[in-house]
Amino acid sequence: MECRRDLILLTICAILFFLYFNIHSLHITSTQNLASLASSRAAHEYGAANSTLGFAGIIAVSKDGSPRRDSLIHSANLTGLYVTIPHQPTWTDADVETIKSKNQSIISRGSAMAWLGHLNALKWFVESGLSSALIIEDDVDWDIHLRHHQVPLVASAFRNLLNTTLANTNDPYATLRHHSNSQTFWGDLTQWELIYLGHCGDYFDMKFWPELPHQKFMDESLLPLEQMHVETEEFLRDVGLKNKQRMVHKSKNPLCSFAYGVTRASAMRILAEFSTEEENHGTWAYDVRLLEACRDLGYKCWTSTPELFHHMDEHSSEITEVNGKPLFPLKDKTDGVNTPNIGCGARSEGFKTEDPQVVEYIKHMAAEPGLCLMNTLKIEGGKTISSLG
Ligand SMILES: *[C@@H]1O[C@H](CO)[C@@H](O)[C@H](O)[C@H]1NC(C)=O
Ligand SMILES: *[C@@H]1O[C@H](CO)[C@@H](O)[C@H](O)[C@H]1NC(C)=O
Ligand SMILES: *[C@@H]1O[C@H](CO)[C@@H](O)[C@H](O)[C@H]1NC(C)=O
Ligand SMILES: *[C@@H]1O[C@H](CO)[C@@H](O)[C@H](O)[C@H]1NC(C)=O
Repeated sequence: MECRRDLILLTICAILFFLYFNIHSLHITSTQNLASLASSRAAHEYGAANSTLGFAGIIAVSKDGSPRRDSLIHSANLTGLYVTIPHQPTWTDADVETIKSKNQSIISRGSAMAWLGHLNALKWFVESGLSSALIIEDDVDWDIHLRHHQVPLVASAFRNLLNTTLANTNDPYATLRHHSNSQTFWGDLTQWELIYLGHCGDYFDMKFWPELPHQKFMDESLLPLEQMHVETEEFLRDVGLKNKQRMVHKSKNPLCSFAYGVTRASAMRILAEFSTEEENHGTWAYDVRLLEACRDLGYKCWTSTPELFHHMDEHSSEITEVNGKPLFPLKDKTDGVNTPNIGCGARSEGFKTEDPQVVEYIKHMAAEPGLCLMNTLKIEGGKTISSLG
């Protein structure tokens, strides 16, 4: 009897503790507790990526005076990312001509300029002497959980896949290098050329699926499937991904160059081979050329599906221009979801704040994969947060 009462007491205590803690976190009255719990958990399981996401640098393609630059810098800082923005010349007609194929050119002026921007970033990277880089466009959004949670998961799956792929080749030198100390956060840099972390879909016929190297894993920070973009959701279901599951796989048709990892060697190869449209054929855009490199030309490319970076505004995208219809028509705007497939977007309106307390809170939140109070922050703004802090 005594014992049973203790048990009931204990249960009540447990429930009270649970409620207390949850209400606590809902009202954000104790950001400190919550954040330390979160970071210890994330650090214990994966270890956060460093401020350049395990690459030697993050390089943004952004023209001088770009209206998107300030918000890029703000969001990068908010999520602990160090982004380098190399100077970009103002492109002239003569520069545009250098991209064009002499015969059968099909590229638009805008698309050629975007292409020049990417080449400029790659040149800067090669001259910098850095060993690897993540190239990002200046209008991409990403989840605030990118550095603490998402990238460590993706990189870990990627390293596993590279290992497995290597184990299946019979190149003794590759195996040797592989066993040496050439392992980085993104594996052996001699074994891959492009890693698509930001794209607008790497869709393919399911007949390719069974033998395509891939690894699936849980990612608590992901949007539920039904809140993904229509085409993304359909594809994810086709390959058997469940709610809160992501995968890394060998690329098949990766489209859009929102964010991609390169090595020094692959950047040099891209500069040497893809500084122009395809001769006697033409090319719509730089990202189409990269897709062809992966699909047809034997480049070693890998993709995270769904993506970690996505364009904020689809209507200004060159792909939309090319196809004449929006590639990513948004579903009914789900609360807080501004960028397709990005759950807790670092560049959301709600996070555009200089209030030190709010900034501090967002940084804490970034370490807790399940936590995104974007709307609360947006609705209540700086006014309410002081009573929360
Ligand atoms: C992040 O890690 C990569 C790979 O180890 C390294 O090359 C890079 O310098 C690191 N970045 C920072 C800012 O420490
Ligand atoms: C973010 O900005 C603060 C204040 O300007 C600076 O001290 C800090 O180093 C920045 N963080 C990164 C990752 O750039
Ligand atoms: C990959 O293989 C190397 C060498 O055998 C090993 O040190 C490393 O831990 C492996 N990495 C993964 C992620 O399995
Ligand atoms: C231009 O491209 C077309 C289509 O590939 C080809 O048939 C033709 O020979 C090319 N012309 C020249 C002058 O190279």
